[in-house]
Amino acid sequence: MRFHYPELLHGGDYNPEQWMEQKDTIWKEDMRYAREAGINTLSVGIFSWSYLEPEDGVYDFSWMDEVMDNLAANGIKAVLATPSGARPPWLAKKYPSVLRMTENRLPNLYGGRHNACYSSPDYERKVQEINTRLAERYKDHPALLMWHVSNEYNNDCHCPRCQERFREWLKARYGTIENLNRCWWNGFWSHRFTCFEEIESPSSIGESVNPALLLSWRRFSTDNLVRFIHTETEPLRRITPDVPVTANLMHTFPGLDYFKVGQAIDVSSWDNYPAWTGDARDLAVSLETAFKHDLMRGVCDQKPFLMMESSPSAVNWHTINPLRKPGTILYQGLQAIAHGSDSVQYFQFRAGRGGSEQYHGAVIDRTGTANTRTFREVAEVGSALKKLRAISGSETRNEVALLYDWNVRWALDDAWMLHRGNQKYEETVLSFHTALSKLGYGVDIVDETCDLSRYRVLVAPMAYMMREGFGEKLKAFVSGGGTLVTTYVSGWVNEELLTYMDADPSPLQELTGVHVDECDALDDVTFGHFSWKGHRYRVKEVAELVTPLTATPLASYTDRFYACKPCFTVNDFGEGSCYYLGARTDADFLHDMLKYVMNEEGVWPLLDDLPDGVTVTARYQGEKRFLFAMNAAMDEKTIELPDAMHEVMTDKLCYEHCAVPPLSIRVLRDEE
Ligand code: GLA
Ligand code: ZN
Repeated sequence: MRFHYPELLHGGDYNPEQWMEQKDTIWKEDMRYAREAGINTLSVGIFSWSYLEPEDGVYDFSWMDEVMDNLAANGIKAVLATPSGARPPWLAKKYPSVLRMTENRLPNLYGGRHNACYSSPDYERKVQEINTRLAERYKDHPALLMWHVSNEYNNDCHCPRCQERFREWLKARYGTIENLNRCWWNGFWSHRFTCFEEIESPSSIGESVNPALLLSWRRFSTDNLVRFIHTETEPLRRITPDVPVTANLMHTFPGLDYFKVGQAIDVSSWDNYPAWTGDARDLAVSLETAFKHDLMRGVCDQKPFLMMESSPSAVNWHTINPLRKPGTILYQGLQAIAHGSDSVQYFQFRAGRGGSEQYHGAVIDRTGTANTRTFREVAEVGSALKKLRAISGSETRNEVALLYDWNVRWALDDAWMLHRGNQKYEETVLSFHTALSKLGYGVDIVDETCDLSRYRVLVAPMAYMMREGFGEKLKAFVSGGGTLVTTYVSGWVNEELLTYMDADPSPLQELTGVHVDECDALDDVTFGHFSWKGHRYRVKEVAELVTPLTATPLASYTDRFYACKPCFTVNDFGEGSCYYLGARTDADFLHDMLKYVMNEEGVWPLLDDLPDGVTVTARYQGEKRFLFAMNAAMDEKTIELPDAMHEVMTDKLCYEHCAVPPLSIRVLRDEE
């Protein structure tokens, strides 16, 4: 289901149950402030279970009715949450199975929030019951816009029920114990299981090093959560089939394969808390945030997503929580829109007086007034989003895709080789994303299961683990005219983590046209070098010794015992080409190399010659194109436009040059 609302959404988490005794004052004031700040949506009910069901089976929706009615009366839409992110104490006491067990097999005590067992039949039943009631009660309510299921679903549980489900999952995947033993290489260390019942989840008091067990457990934990999401959403889908469902995700959170979670919801949404510094380091913060936005759009088929949470000022949980310098909140909001979000939402609307998040930024802070810089800046975002309303629902149409795959990440996290525990997969993918962004390309992030047919270029760094059929998919992509850029540590293991008994990158040998003979791990004082097109570049951390089969070497190492061995090659394959980079380099080479590849292949950036600090993205509404020029630097930059464009906020025409002030975003549209 595709979500669409005719405006960009502006709002955030609203927890009025913290002010149950001040309904006549604070609740009323909240609505007035929300209107003043240009807020058109509030997310309610996220942590409301103990007010909605104060005792087992005793429900009280009267206060929520009032909240929903207040929202409707003020023209505010509700992102209505199911309360499963946190439980009331009575529930844990009466149904202890709802609590998780640690990997050391100790049951958790009640406390905190995101700590439920997703295999507990009691929890499934209680969640379904309350969700059914919520859906029945509000199905026709004019405020209801969308379902927000739970909160930041995360992590695993090692209780006996989860173990049982894990074994069922293993049986379904492997069929027989002999097959599992073969796939997990259990002939080593005498680890051959005789039946599935002997298998336990990974633990530091048990098995913690077999990579196949670790990967299976991570895959199972995602599948078990997805199963829980289906249980949780079943009443919502049945009773309100036209109301879309979202779950707020956490960008590169290692515990879940979000590409799978994305298939269980209609709209992706995520919680964005960058560590803005207010100085030149914000450029790096902005580039990393851009990567996360693109990833969060990618996990739900590149559809418009929501920035469900962000802080309207400082957060409270970083180690140091600096203020946001003026303009940062607008930049943070418009950057989300630029990358495909249809919303700017905050945590939270009004700060509580106590509790663990009392000092977290809020639209209405602890002064309880609108007379704050934060409020004024939020209201400024509200006015900006009104002017940009034509953008809502528009899509991205990027020609360049970048591979980020949770299975690869997991496999590398657990791989004992090269830099154990620090293979830098995420950092490496981010470094390619940054290079592409700085060159002026919009980027889609995909995993090995995604459709590649809409792209002209795929950049796939460190594609260490190849799932069944992925090698063939890449071949089809390139032979059909696509360009693949891949790197060191690609194609080493199959989806069971078994090596191929052949030189790497075994499934990609034909495509890359190279053999990798050896792979070196460099420490942080050892570097290699190579020259290319008159420049000398540095090699760090990983260097492969490559023999070309059919590939043409483009650059070779100049030092160490592998001097003269190629480290950058190209291979023609069918209608397309495959570039292979055998070494980890600094950002300068990624920039120069990708510029060269794009030029060779005729894939043009959205804007040429961007000044340092500026990135650009595009969204399309039918024939209409919106360009977002983002300057994350601390000084003004000027971009060159090939044609005159309108600045959407001011409706002024920009000819040839357009100035972008420090830490700000220009939204442009083509002249009609
Ligand atoms: C997360 C949670 C919110 C809140 C914020 C604070 O994203 O979803 O409930 O705790 O962090 O930054
Ligand atoms: Zn469990």
